[in-house]
Amino acid sequence: MNVIRVAIAGFGGVGRATANLLLARRDRYRQVHGAEIRLVAVCGSRSGLADADGLEAERLDALEPGLSGPAFIEASGADILIEAGPSDFRTGGPGLAYIRSSLSAGRDAIVISKGALVHSGPELLALARSSGALLKLSGAAAAALPTIDLLDHSLKGCEVLEIEGILNATTNYLLDAMMNQNLGFDEALAHAQAGGFAEADPRNDTEGWDTASKLILIANFGLDAALTMDDLVVEGIQSVTAQDIEAWRKQSLVPKLVGSLIRTDRATRATVGIRTYPPTDPLAHVSGKNKAIRITTDAMGETIAIGSGTEPLATAAAALKDLEHILTTRAAQATSGKGGEE
Ligand SMILES: NC(=O)c1ccc[n+]([C@@H]2O[C@H](COP(=O)([O-])OP(=O)(O)OC[C@H]3O[C@@H](n4cnc5c(N)ncnc54)[C@H](OP(=O)(O)O)[C@@H]3O)[C@@H](O)[C@H]2O)c1
Repeated sequence: MNVIRVAIAGFGGVGRATANLLLARRDRYRQVHGAEIRLVAVCGSRSGLADADGLEAERLDALEPGLSGPAFIEASGADILIEAGPSDFRTGGPGLAYIRSSLSAGRDAIVISKGALVHSGPELLALARSSGALLKLSGAAAAALPTIDLLDHSLKGCEVLEIEGILNATTNYLLDAMMNQNLGFDEALAHAQAGGFAEADPRNDTEGWDTASKLILIANFGLDAALTMDDLVVEGIQSVTAQDIEAWRKQSLVPKLVGSLIRTDRATRATVGIRTYPPTDPLAHVSGKNKAIRITTDAMGETIAIGSGTEPLATAAAALKDLEHILTTRAAQATSGKGGEE
């Protein structure tokens, strides 16, 4: 059986959920892919654990101090990196060094944090192309909601004319609560924070940056665009007033924070801001913590996907969907003699 070694850098809620799901699915990987998956290393910012024979779930609560960093992951002999550290699109975050190190050595990377991909996407893509490594990012590009997969597979060959995405669950929940539960912005935010689905510092979500980051990833990795944050006009929901809510209610309009991309022959125009929809529009019915994407193409008209899932399991599952695509690709390459060491 083909042994595939996996390492996880970033071991918070999502990293741990990914490790546990990976270990729970090992029988599936054996049966479906003929692959023996071993989790050979995990690490947080200051501690980690490695074992070339594979870590079991019960050992993952006892990380050892001092074991962290790209060199530690490299030394574990991992074939595939899963990166789940903090996201920072202004600097690339700690994930950038892990991803660079993995891709430049020709090792496949599954990236869950958005920061490095937004900050240095073209560089990382070029690294992957030159080393032959695969770079996957479903977890970063709206996770349980399929986005890049739709472009890569379901709509292949079509010209994408427009994309509209409700890509951030927190802001969708907040707008929903303001419209339907008569809550002000601060009150709705306090509810979301108490429920654990808004950050203590919510500005990355409420000011639209998380939506903008996902839109950039969809554009750059799904459509081969080269957008940076400076190319986007970004507005959030933090300034929505009771008067706005009242006016939308009176007009039977439903507000959503939408990342929008319009493509013409000459350019790709991307914005993030509030759009309002009549009740006849499917996007008006994307409620609570759901996300959605509408893609308009030249030949297949409009395609809409709506999705969510309980976090962090849903994001872990999105990352492991990427793992299965990598296993399939590598197996096909090995069969056709193009797989190199795989
Ligand atoms: N939570 C979700 O539902 C969700 C959904 C989609 C995407 N994401 C993305 O997934 C990523 C992880 O989210 P999370 O909720 O798991 O965050 P989290 O609980 O804050 O975990 C972050 C982890 O990254 C580690 N880390 C920080 N600096 C590091 C470094 N230099 N090297 C290695 N590890 C480092 C932290 O280590 P310490 O514990 O030692 O500080 C921690 O283990 C984020 O980028 C987030 O945007 C999350």
